[in-house]
Amino acid sequence: MNNPFNPSFGRIPAVFLHRGQLIDDVVNEINNPNSPYKISIVYGMRGVGKTTFLTEVGKRVEKNPDWIVVDLAMGSNLMAALVDSMYMKAGNELQKIFESIKGLNFSAFGLQLSAEISQPTFSTYQGILTNMFDKLRKKGIKVLITLDEVKSNRELKDFAGYYQLLNRKDYPVALMMTGLPENISELQNEDVMTFLLRGKRIALSALNLAQIEVSYNNVFKQSGFQVTEDILSKMALMTMGYSYAFQLLGYLVWNSAKKNKIIDQNLLDKIKPEYLVELDQNAYTKIFSSLSKQDKKFALAMAQSSEQRVSIKEIRERLNRPSNFVANYRRRLLDDQIIKSTNYGEVAFTLPFFKEYVLQQHRFEQGL
Ligand SMILES: Nc1ncnc2c1ncn2[C@@H]1O[C@H](COP(=O)(O)OP(=O)(O)O)[C@@H](O)[C@H]1O
Ligand SMILES: [Mg+2]
Repeated sequence: MNNPFNPSFGRIPAVFLHRGQLIDDVVNEINNPNSPYKISIVYGMRGVGKTTFLTEVGKRVEKNPDWIVVDLAMGSNLMAALVDSMYMKAGNELQKIFESIKGLNFSAFGLQLSAEISQPTFSTYQGILTNMFDKLRKKGIKVLITLDEVKSNRELKDFAGYYQLLNRKDYPVALMMTGLPENISELQNEDVMTFLLRGKRIALSALNLAQIEVSYNNVFKQSGFQVTEDILSKMALMTMGYSYAFQLLGYLVWNSAKKNKIIDQNLLDKIKPEYLVELDQNAYTKIFSSLSKQDKKFALAMAQSSEQRVSIKEIRERLNRPSNFVANYRRRLLDDQIIKSTNYGEVAFTLPFFKEYVLQQHRFEQGL
């Protein structure tokens, strides 16, 4: 049997863990025309499972024939991509209706404009789209637009302006975005985009450790691996509920144990260095480099503690800074989900072995 774990980004994995009722609730909300979830933002760090979540919601919404789900990606002309994808996702009957719109020609490659409008501008697309949405509304068809990894740029700004218009005119068009916390907060700086921020926020928290343990147990035991409960709970702890880590650890353990079919402490010790390297290369380096200099100092002061759960008092003493300064950085790192509050006046890192990563990074910098 092939390795069922898949530590690559942006794909619905074969071993998928449900976050309780979250997807069901969100799908129900999207179906309700007056729901505040008409615009929603899934946010969280790299690797928590935003793209996977978005894809899963899209798949679920699409099961209802009254809905068309259109997946847009940043980095293309969003308006043009919306026209094309709506056409592609429409059924035969609807495609015919779209084709009846004057001046438009669709082919297997998407939209072709007639000669008079060969230099399409923003308002060309706006006109076409509104025409298309009118036809959809008459047919009772609703649209969910998904937009992965939003960033504040011109393209999003134009799109947001148009979406706001659609929304004001009550077209049944829902929008679900994902974004890194730092990119989401940048949207605040642009007037048009603050409209998007009024959407419902969906924070993706860590996966449940008990669920991880059960899942590892099922997958490995069903495939004839020998593993004790003790080792299974160690594995769950090694992931700390981080989605990417869950796939990565499962993947490495599977590959390393597939010959002997025995998963024990020895095996975990053996794969740990590779586990850490992959976490660093594929997630932590990007996550850490997005932090400000002061954020990094706070993280280092935390990592230098002998405890996993570090008191704010200890961090303040090590940084030798006033408490409002420290409180400010604590808040920033909490918002970015780098740290979590474990108790009153106490914080811990969210990601597995992030403490070790920060210390190692510091050693490298000292060596330079
Ligand atoms: N609910 C889940 N259960 C199991 N694995 C998941 C889940 N969500 C995401 N993953 C895995 O975590 C990794 C990161 O997911 P992805 O959606 O790409 O994260 P993000 O978009 O937040 O960076 C992928 O390997 C994916 O398969
Ligand atoms: Mg993603």
